[in-house]
Amino acid sequence: MKVHNVEMVISAVRPEQYPEDGLPEFALAGRSNVGKSSFINRMIGRKALARISSKPGKTQTLNFYKIEEQLFFVDVPGYGYAKVSKTERAAWGKMIEKYFTGRDLLKAVVLIVDLRHEPTSDDCMMYDFLKHYNIPCIVIATKCDKIPKGKWDKHKKVVRETLQMDKQDPLIVFSSEKGIGFEQAWAEIEGRM
Ligand code: GTP
Ligand code: MG
Repeated sequence: MKVHNVEMVISAVRPEQYPEDGLPEFALAGRSNVGKSSFINRMIGRKALARISSKPGKTQTLNFYKIEEQLFFVDVPGYGYAKVSKTERAAWGKMIEKYFTGRDLLKAVVLIVDLRHEPTSDDCMMYDFLKHYNIPCIVIATKCDKIPKGKWDKHKKVVRETLQMDKQDPLIVFSSEKGIGFEQAWAEIEGRM
């Protein structure tokens, strides 16, 4: 999709605040600092519409970005950031669970992992959670620009095996920095609208 028109519609914490346009929604999930906001920015061709963090834990609310009046990207706070209090973590869990399990307009979750590293136990938990609730899932292995191309397949295999991914779930090698995987990622998303 060629994106000309993007609007940050709302930062929501409660279901009453979700947009009412009825457009399909695609939510980002992933460890704090893995590159969720950068993924959105690359997909919409903006340098910094979704806030990028130099410090992890920047995204705190569900941020709805309306794209071409056709879909929403929903930027979601990351997990696994150590400096988050127990209370904050519990609030995060409730907010995510409500949105992920209760939102009919949510067409798929885009789970972002780091191609360089074995997925963390939190990554595995998130994938299992999505599977448990039958939420369609697109796995993006980002930051591929940080390792040589010759190693991508080996790292992809580690991601698939560690997450114990279903064969039919897509795994796309991506780089927000270089735009690698852009077409494939859009194809997966547009195929689910
Ligand atoms: P939180 O909102 O804190 O959960 O973080 P996030 O997952 O939204 O990560 P964000 O997009 O803010 O990126 C974190 C850092 O990783 C930033 O310094 C980005 O510039 C960097 N980064 C993200 N994607 C890529 C990529 O594909 N390649 C490289 N080299 N760096 C990336
Ligand atoms: Mg972010």
